[in-house]
Amino acid sequence: MTGKKRILSGMRPTGPLHLGNLHGALANWIDMQEQYDCFFFIADWHALTSNYEDTGSIADYVKIMMIDWLSAGLSPDKNTLFVQSHIKEHAELFLILSMITPVPWLERNPTYKDQIGQMSGKDLSTFGFLGYPVLQAADIIMYKADGVPIGVDQVPHVEITREIARRFNNFYGKIFPEPESILTKTPKILGLDRRKMSKSYNNAIYLSDKPDDIKSKVARMITDPKRARKNDSGNPDICNVFEFHRQYTDQATVEKINIECRNAQIGCGECKKIMAENLIIFLEPICEKRKYFMDRPKLVDEFIVEGNQKAGKVAKQTMEEVRSAIKLSN
Ligand code: TRP
Ligand code: SF4
Repeated sequence: MTGKKRILSGMRPTGPLHLGNLHGALANWIDMQEQYDCFFFIADWHALTSNYEDTGSIADYVKIMMIDWLSAGLSPDKNTLFVQSHIKEHAELFLILSMITPVPWLERNPTYKDQIGQMSGKDLSTFGFLGYPVLQAADIIMYKADGVPIGVDQVPHVEITREIARRFNNFYGKIFPEPESILTKTPKILGLDRRKMSKSYNNAIYLSDKPDDIKSKVARMITDPKRARKNDSGNPDICNVFEFHRQYTDQATVEKINIECRNAQIGCGECKKIMAENLIIFLEPICEKRKYFMDRPKLVDEFIVEGNQKAGKVAKQTMEEVRSAIKLSN
């Protein structure tokens, strides 16, 4: 094989990708694709856990997500890109792991408690939602991943995965490595209203936004809240627009804005215009590639089929080992 370490990560297809997803996850995946043997997948079964009443858009979001990934630079040649629900082995391993997972491990999972609290409009008291980390453990250990690149919010899930893998190995023989979390450095790109960027807060800038949308969204961004007039000096350290500048604007201009903002020499309106222009330039190549893939839906479908085949081979092999370890088949 390649001798590279294997990593795996996934995203739930709940909508088009925004800048928070790009800088929080996807950009890191793209950086890692040379160095690791990478498996990246679209977790559509996981999307069902919270969207089980209205499943109508999940299939479209799967396609959109693949196009977003490809446009941003994730390569179908270098990586295995696949869709969870196409690899039925995940469901079988999930079932087997569920037999050995103590319920208290799941009940004390902080993400579980948070989400139940946050999504007060939805009834999440389902078996599937409680078992979310067990399915995630199946996703990860199916491919014997050494590392899982994720944000801090997902660390408890990888911890549970390690515990489940250890328990499996103790009972049935050592099949699975215990995967490590790979925490990725992420810039503090917040939403337009300074809350976490999220589709559900309606404060996101999407990779697929048109230049005019970007301009009007940036114009709505909350800046240093203490700065009411142009004559007031501002504080870039607490301004989200400035964080965006750090990401999209050249160093010399960033320095200049830093000083001019503090000395009330630049107004927020002008500052935002410069940033919006640079963000539009940054997104241009992604936008070009999106057009390319949107015009070639068959090609995208082919990539998905090929990725699923590559993933399916590994999953099939792992399940043979698992079935024989638990002595259910011969
Ligand atoms: N729970 C992850 C999230 O919401 C998505 C996910 C599902 C995942 N299975 C995974 C991430 C396996 C990493 C590895 O972001
Ligand atoms: Fe933020 Fe720019 Fe306004 Fe300063 S001038 S507060 S950096 S938007």
